Amino acid sequence: MRTENAVAPKTIYLKDYTPAPYLAKQVNLSFNLLPGKTIVTSEVRYVKNPVGVSSDLVLDGEEQTIVSVAKNGVPLSDYTVADGQMTIASPGDEFTLTIVSEINPEANTALEGLYQSQGTYCTQCEAEGFRRITYYQDRPDVLSVFTVRIEADAKAYPVMLSNGNLQEEGGLPDGRHYRVWHDPFPKPCYLFALVAGDLVRVADTFTTMTGRNVDLHIYVRAGDEGQCSHAMESLKKSMKWDEEVYGREYQLDLFNIVAVSDFNMGAMENTSLNVFNTALVLAHQETATDSDFMSVEGVIGHEYFHNWTGNRVTCRDWFQLSLKEGFTVFRDQEFSADLNSRAVQRIDDVNGLRRLQFPEDGSPLAHSVQPDQFIEISNFYTKTIYDKGAELIRMQHTLLGPQTFRKATDLYFDRFDGQAVTCDDFVQCMAEASGRDMTQFFRWYKQAGTPTLVASSHYDAAQQRYTLSFKQSQPETPGQTDKQPLHIPIAVGLLAADGREIVPTQVLEMTAREQSFTFDGIAAKPVPSILRGFSAPVKLETDLSDDDLRLLQVHDTDGFNKWEAGQTLALRTIQRVMADPQADISQFIADVGTLIAQGLSGQGDKALLARALSLPMIGVIGQYQPVIDPAAIDAARSSILTQIKRAHKDALAALYEANANPGEFTITPQAMGRRTLQAAVLEILTTTNGTGCAARAKAHYDAADNMTDRVTALSCLSDSTQPQRAEVFADFYTRFEKYPLVVDKWFSLQAIANREQIFDDLASLRAHPDFNIKNPNRVRSLYSAFAINNPVKFHDPSGKGYAFLRDAIIELNSINPQIAARLVTPLREWKRYTPALQAQMKAALQAVLDTPNLSGDVFEVVSKSLN
Ligand code: PHE
Ligand code: ZN
Repeated sequence: MRTENAVAPKTIYLKDYTPAPYLAKQVNLSFNLLPGKTIVTSEVRYVKNPVGVSSDLVLDGEEQTIVSVAKNGVPLSDYTVADGQMTIASPGDEFTLTIVSEINPEANTALEGLYQSQGTYCTQCEAEGFRRITYYQDRPDVLSVFTVRIEADAKAYPVMLSNGNLQEEGGLPDGRHYRVWHDPFPKPCYLFALVAGDLVRVADTFTTMTGRNVDLHIYVRAGDEGQCSHAMESLKKSMKWDEEVYGREYQLDLFNIVAVSDFNMGAMENTSLNVFNTALVLAHQETATDSDFMSVEGVIGHEYFHNWTGNRVTCRDWFQLSLKEGFTVFRDQEFSADLNSRAVQRIDDVNGLRRLQFPEDGSPLAHSVQPDQFIEISNFYTKTIYDKGAELIRMQHTLLGPQTFRKATDLYFDRFDGQAVTCDDFVQCMAEASGRDMTQFFRWYKQAGTPTLVASSHYDAAQQRYTLSFKQSQPETPGQTDKQPLHIPIAVGLLAADGREIVPTQVLEMTAREQSFTFDGIAAKPVPSILRGFSAPVKLETDLSDDDLRLLQVHDTDGFNKWEAGQTLALRTIQRVMADPQADISQFIADVGTLIAQGLSGQGDKALLARALSLPMIGVIGQYQPVIDPAAIDAARSSILTQIKRAHKDALAALYEANANPGEFTITPQAMGRRTLQAAVLEILTTTNGTGCAARAKAHYDAADNMTDRVTALSCLSDSTQPQRAEVFADFYTRFEKYPLVVDKWFSLQAIANREQIFDDLASLRAHPDFNIKNPNRVRSLYSAFAINNPVKFHDPSGKGYAFLRDAIIELNSINPQIAARLVTPLREWKRYTPALQAQMKAALQAVLDTPNLSGDVFEVVSKSLN
């Protein structure tokens, strides 16, 4: 018996890819789930790969004890095990290898491989968790047909699931039972899943476009079954949307979703057995906010869409991760846009990109959408791979137009169904279906960093000619200094001085470093609306005047750019106040009054008005500063909010009243729009944190009949020093202490408080009996909420914020390395901050790096951050 544990950090390169030496024709797995130890028997039929370059079979395996190895039924001792790999030299052209090993799911706190969550066995194999279950070629280009037998105690584990269809079941002596599952579609091992537990099932069905019936099952803990209907509805909508928009039908007769409370990520698309974080399944008006409802819908869609983009067509290697993630995010964004409001969806997606992906792209961890190297693939589930990746797909959609894009995706699915392919293969389908040369476009996949696009304009009255000129530049990023110009789709429209649209949206294609586009027959100097719908993920600089922006803010026909114009005005105002606290910003304050008046007249979309009334967040503003000083940004931002409140208090109060809760709860876009508008107004009305503010926020809480309104009230009270703060937080806890996902909110809403005692608060929250370092949701609710959503206190000059995070990273390093590595995120961008903050952030990173027994995950992000 031999045991393999930690593996030394080693860099893996895309250029080193070679095909797997052996193909797996059939995989038979058998799990005997016993207390404290699980016996895994894996029997695999291997065939030499005709295009393989080596004749040695090399299997990955970690965190397990080998009990026996046999080839064609004969015990084998002629193998070596080292550095997480078992090597069998030249085993032959075709043979069956049987490996029995022992694992300990109960002791697995990394939540990769087979583990337990509140007594339920579950697996997480993406990206490289399967190797913690058995020795196998753990790489996505080895596809095989899986048959899985599960055996366990019948009473404790009545539900036993794996991928595909149930083939056989039965009782066994000693109160045990077994089930055999078979998935006829070959799949990579990262899509394997197993669940065994005492769960309840919510059932429904879906009839596909060809009239087949699919059983839909959602499994949750007893008591949670009343919170599944939104997820189930979202699943049915996803299945229908993928048929209508992409012509994609589901292939099996059963689709399972299981919700678990201990999960490193949001959810996982295992074939026909999606495993979800409870946070992205359970939703009820009493316990979930509107934004939770939206996330559930989006992520249910996301995982379902992976069935085609990820599972049936999968990745050749993990450098191609964005092939499935970027495309699937694009698909889920479009799904949500079709179901709700397209403009609101785009605004929120772009806001997220700017707040979280732009900083990543400007940090030492910047990497391209198709990276060239990594140490630990789990560190590459990033905003760049997901969200910038989605922008790359969106640009191709924009360049080709919807019909040709659909032709290209049809070609992609047709050509590659059942295969493991690359981002290049995807773009090649775009090129073939459209007859376009996409070579230059592919640079977007290879060059990291957010490009800057500078626009300037010239009007020639004599010629009635308007010229828009652009310059693009790409910042240097680690390992990439010589950047080439990108192919950038710039969607543009022109407005006349009276606000009429004189040139509707057209897509300019920029391919050179500098390029001009002319518009003829333009009778008078127009105002351009540039980068409509945020048609490319760039930082745009224009020569538009404040008056031009004010015109766009009122008249632009593009919902995104209408909002964007207001945000640019707000940014300029914040910059003015940062430079001179006494600056005259009366025009801006008056413009906000116009927006409020518009709201009072009942005109316009409430969700859009709410976003128009919200100043950019500190994290977004920071992206536009040469040196980030969160406290200074916050001071300017607060001063503007105070001026808005003082100038428009009565109108705001009236707008608040006009949007009061009508009493009937729905999650229609209109109802959510009303709540979010009321919340935006309440935020301004309570910005000064005085006695009146606290009374207003408490009244909002007392009137609430749903979680959205409660959270709005708590968030307006979190900075307060008034007695209502403690009252409301205490009431909230008592009401919801039995609901872990709501207790997460209770932790977060305190962690984001910008108030004096915050470090004492954080210490008591850390010591609270409900805090559990092993539960990722709870860790995020305290540490990520603080470090990401409380920029002022996280960047407190005392360095206490950094120390708080540092200690958690060190503690989690040995418990759950993936979560520990993720917590490093807010420290990575240290070079962007003031010298005093930089020094402290750097010291925190160094302290982590100096920790003995650092995991590969944490080592990679910390060492690269310090580079
Ligand atoms: N593939 C999952 C998704 O995007 C994310 C995930 C990655 C989950 C790794 C778990 C582990 O939908
Ligand atoms: Zn995904």
